[in-house]
Amino acid sequence: MKKVLVAPSILSADFGNLEREIRDIERAGADLIHIDVMDGHFVPNITIGPVVIKGIRKLTKMPLDVHLMIDEPIRYVKEFRDAGSDWITVHYESCDDLPETIEAVRRTGAQTGLSLKPKTAIDERVKQFLPILDVVLIMSVEPGFGGQKFMPEAVPKIIELRKLYKGLISIDGGINAEYAPVVRKAGVDVLVAGTAVFGQKDRAKAIEKLRG
Ligand code: DX5
Ligand code: ZN
Repeated sequence: MKKVLVAPSILSADFGNLEREIRDIERAGADLIHIDVMDGHFVPNITIGPVVIKGIRKLTKMPLDVHLMIDEPIRYVKEFRDAGSDWITVHYESCDDLPETIEAVRRTGAQTGLSLKPKTAIDERVKQFLPILDVVLIMSVEPGFGGQKFMPEAVPKIIELRKLYKGLISIDGGINAEYAPVVRKAGVDVLVAGTAVFGQKDRAKAIEKLRG
């Protein structure tokens, strides 16, 4: 099986010791840092804004994979890019003008991602964007919180997308050592994992387990 990238989600990190947490996963072999941005509107939780990303940017050279769970992300794409985001993923369900939003991300030069909530199907509209996307992020929990249970419906969706799409497929939500092999087999390239990395004392071992 091909090598997967592991992107620990800092939502599950100890925010009182963010620098230590980031250095720890860097040493442990993480490939990216996944940063969950939530606005209390598109999802019920509120988390991180550009000012925090700017701080994280100074601490590490690891690519910052920024997952925007906010309404009308087009309003903030440039700010997130200027703060140091390398990958910017917007939600299919959160944009009035999706083509313009995707274009706005592309214009910043960031890796451009589109995320689908669990109930969003890979329909004709999604398919039309595939050629211009660097990454498609499949949600395997309802977005909003870390520590939820993996929804197995994500697996056929990955398999379906893998047949159509050559870019990176990322999976986010409830990924642990039990489900990682299943989604790797289905064809994902990136494993996002919060609890399964930050919830473990030995992060190197946790990452190794996910990578398989
Ligand atoms: C959920 C977030 C996820 C979350 C993953 O809305 O997008 O990135 O932090 O956490 P775990 O791995 O604990 O499900
Ligand atoms: Zn996420």
